[in-house]
Amino acid sequence: METVLSGIQPSGELHVGNYLGAIRNWVSLQDSYRCIFSVVDYHAITSDYDPAALSSNTLDMAAAILACGVDPALSILFVQSHVREHTELCWVLCSVAPMGELSRMTQFKDKSERQETVSAGLWSYPVLQAADILLYRATRVPVGVDQVQHLELCRELARRFNARFGPTFAEPQPLLTSTPKIMGLDGQAKMSKSLGNTIALGEPADALRAKLKAAFTDPQRKRRSDPGRPEVCNIYTMHGFFTESARTDEIAAKCRAAQIGCVECKGILADGMVPHLEAIQRRYRDLRSDEARLHAVLHDGAAKARVIAQATMAEVRGRVGLVGA
Ligand code: TRP
Ligand code: SF4
Repeated sequence: METVLSGIQPSGELHVGNYLGAIRNWVSLQDSYRCIFSVVDYHAITSDYDPAALSSNTLDMAAAILACGVDPALSILFVQSHVREHTELCWVLCSVAPMGELSRMTQFKDKSERQETVSAGLWSYPVLQAADILLYRATRVPVGVDQVQHLELCRELARRFNARFGPTFAEPQPLLTSTPKIMGLDGQAKMSKSLGNTIALGEPADALRAKLKAAFTDPQRKRRSDPGRPEVCNIYTMHGFFTESARTDEIAAKCRAAQIGCVECKGILADGMVPHLEAIQRRYRDLRSDEARLHAVLHDGAAKARVIAQATMAEVRGRVGLVGA
């Protein structure tokens, strides 16, 4: 079985964009791969954040991932900072990473434009990400378009390490999945917490319905009598996940013929979404209310991850020429 690795930052609440774009995919990968999933708290501290909220955000994220269906009996789920080898390998990889390339990373440039001071941690962010992957010799990384460049850098760091210290790491391949881009409710950009255009997974039913009501649809559909284009409509994309396919086909045809209005269409979407999200919310409340059990799951995940990480680091230390302790 090939190993898949992925990580997510503990950036507060999961939203429908994270769920449809990433976590749902993690859940389905569990049957075909050895999956290792991490809540990457060391990545979270590279930008401005609230230290008082980080640990509860980390637990929230772990509980949400479990509530969505990641199963600790099938996969390894752990908190990045619980496995110290991540930072250890990151330091070694920093020594083969070219400064110029880190400075050219698109995400680094975007993020550093938005903040006053830019930390060396933010700059090294993709090196830590490479350590996350190489530590487990993962061969597959499910990536969205925004992470392709970071994965490419990870491959390069593996090559550079191997060239300098001998063959150690396989180059991980992207696992491209057919998850469509979920736009924010404003229809302007990808759904993202920092843009405030999200539907939270924990959204109560009435708030969800209100948000959908105000959501952006096909901009060419100004009046109900204007024919719509489901293929450019974010609401229609979401129907693909929450509404049965016979019903979505009918909606598409009626939208094109101006036989259904957006208000009705959004109501049908809400009818599909509400029970789906409520089931996740119930599981989430269960998991989050029993902190001892949640800690135990993460403790167990870290123990399993550590076994693999320590074996890799033992080899890396030898290759690099560090004296045994
Ligand atoms: N940088 C990724 C993101 O922002 C999160 C991440 C950290 C990650 N380590 C990873 C993703 C390893 C895949 C593999 O989405
Ligand atoms: Fe989008 Fe539905 Fe309106 Fe068509 S009817 S534009 S699919 S919301």
